[in-house]
Amino acid sequence: MTTDTLDLAKQEAFAGRIVQVLNDACLGYLCSLGHRTRLFDTMAELPPSTSEQIATATGLDERYVREWLGGMTVGGIVEYAPENGTYRLPPEHAAALTRAAGPDNMASFMQNLALIGIVEDEVFEAFRKGGGVPYSSYPRFQELQAEETARVYDAALIDSVVPLAPGLAERLREGIDALDIGTGQGHAVNLLAEAFPQSRFRGLDMSETGIAAARREAEEMGLRNVRFDIGDSAALTGAYDLITAFDVIHDLARPAQTLSAVAAALRDGGTFLMGDIDASSRLEENVDHLLGPALYTFSVFYCMTVSLGEGGAGLGTVWGRQTAQRMLAEAGFDDVTERHVEGDILNVYYVARKKP
Ligand SMILES: C[S@@+](CC[C@H](N)C(=O)[O-])C[C@H]1O[C@@H](n2cnc3c(N)ncnc32)[C@H](O)[C@@H]1O
Repeated sequence: MTTDTLDLAKQEAFAGRIVQVLNDACLGYLCSLGHRTRLFDTMAELPPSTSEQIATATGLDERYVREWLGGMTVGGIVEYAPENGTYRLPPEHAAALTRAAGPDNMASFMQNLALIGIVEDEVFEAFRKGGGVPYSSYPRFQELQAEETARVYDAALIDSVVPLAPGLAERLREGIDALDIGTGQGHAVNLLAEAFPQSRFRGLDMSETGIAAARREAEEMGLRNVRFDIGDSAALTGAYDLITAFDVIHDLARPAQTLSAVAAALRDGGTFLMGDIDASSRLEENVDHLLGPALYTFSVFYCMTVSLGEGGAGLGTVWGRQTAQRMLAEAGFDDVTERHVEGDILNVYYVARKKP
């Protein structure tokens, strides 16, 4: 291509955008630290303060706090008043960055950037040789995943997600058998067990650290109607009236076998409630997805790659509604509806019924 054919305005605009990509990616790491150190939480409560005052309030090293505040200021996250050397986190920004923001806290999510950074060398190798990355390469995964999803479950599981399946809350109140596959640290199951004491719950995951944390929480909550087991969801056992899978199926090495096992383990009239990423299976329909780049990035660095690491299907984060519907139908579900929780842009919930 000669320079005659180049659209120079387009070239210049893109060069500016790609610089912005670098800056925003870097801010993601600083936001992660702002969450972990509780700098955001503390600043949200403080009046405009100097770096010394902020360091004292957080118990952190002033030099690091000042450098972080520099990044936050030039990144437009914190406001700086040079005349008195004070920094302020405006409440409009705190609403997306603090623990008090609950499901709206994006700073918590930024911790995943550092997590996936750890495996870049292994992912790079997989690009060249195929294969994937083992779960053991992601040391903080269970902890971060639980922190991330607990905010959503605490806010919405009982009052907004359960009612997506018609009649489910009533059946849970009466007493049924329920299984959650890929339960992670089991917080969803523990919340359900607490809310519906007449029902019996089981959580299944192949992660020993996940199941250990789930058992600890169940004990702390004093729950007697829940148990947790280490195991592969593709070989699940038992008979249930409700099976749930939250953000799990696309990560699995054997998703098709798991969906068939779910269908086989459901009693007649039972419900499979599957929460998964709300996206299209067609790339061109995801171009305007608010979280599109994040979804494909987490797929390359985690979801697709852990599945391929086990010689699995590698569906990827963005397997999409059309593929999900096809696989549910192939597993034997012929009554599947897609439902959404208001304000949740990440998930779609498939309510699949097994005919009585
Ligand atoms: C993205 S996490 C979701 C965890 C949890 N459901 C939540 O919403 O926080 C996916 C989980 O699936 C588990 N998992 C992956 N393959 C599995 C398998 N074959 N059998 C059981 N669990 C599996 C992982 O260990 C991980 O805890």
